[in-house]
Amino acid sequence: MIFTVAIDGPAAAGKGTISRAVAEAFGFAHLDTGALYRAVGVKGGDPVLAAQSLMPEDLARDDLRTLGAGQAASRVAVIPEVRAALLDFQRRFARREGGAVLDGRDIGTVICPEAEVKLFVTASPEVRAGRRWLELGAEAGARSLAEVLAEVRERDDRDMNRADAPLRPAAEAVMLDTSDLAVTAAIDRAVAVVRARLDLLRG
Ligand code: CDP
Repeated sequence: MIFTVAIDGPAAAGKGTISRAVAEAFGFAHLDTGALYRAVGVKGGDPVLAAQSLMPEDLARDDLRTLGAGQAASRVAVIPEVRAALLDFQRRFARREGGAVLDGRDIGTVICPEAEVKLFVTASPEVRAGRRWLELGAEAGARSLAEVLAEVRERDDRDMNRADAPLRPAAEAVMLDTSDLAVTAAIDRAVAVVRARLDLLRG
């Protein structure tokens, strides 16, 4: 069975947690596409070459989730040749046999417009910055909440206003605002959307 769940949205909206839970619930493979851009961003050197020669070990680095890696990712993500170099891998992953969940910024719009389910996960910038600040642990100690909020806003701005594959909901995306939702409630809603679509396709 080919079945793609595209989960897009701004920084720290909860895409990762929801994606992992949806993949687990249905036995689908999961790809965190942000990790690809983070790996290119932290690799250094020419970002186009880095994207073209990305290796599994680049994705296993333990510094990919830092604020710096997020900023570096959004800077290289504006380069069309970087995006082009990562396209085929993501497309093939999306249409692999057995079902796939991909989370990112352009999955429903560019990588897999034919995705069976498209979710756009959002939350207010303040809520997202609070979550990211908690998630950062030791690194957060060195940053104020206001600084993390400024970084989240800066990255959103760059992601939404770039020319190539800007962050925006696909026309038919189901919107999921997690500002006032507990993690379990957000997961339940996402799982229900996917189940409804699967039931429909299976007749
Ligand atoms: O986890 P978080 O939402 O903070 O970020 P991420 O999903 O790891 O993505 C990091 C950065 O990579 C984003 O700010 C985007 O600039 C870029 N990205 C992208 O352009 N397209 C994607 N499909 C995924 C990430």
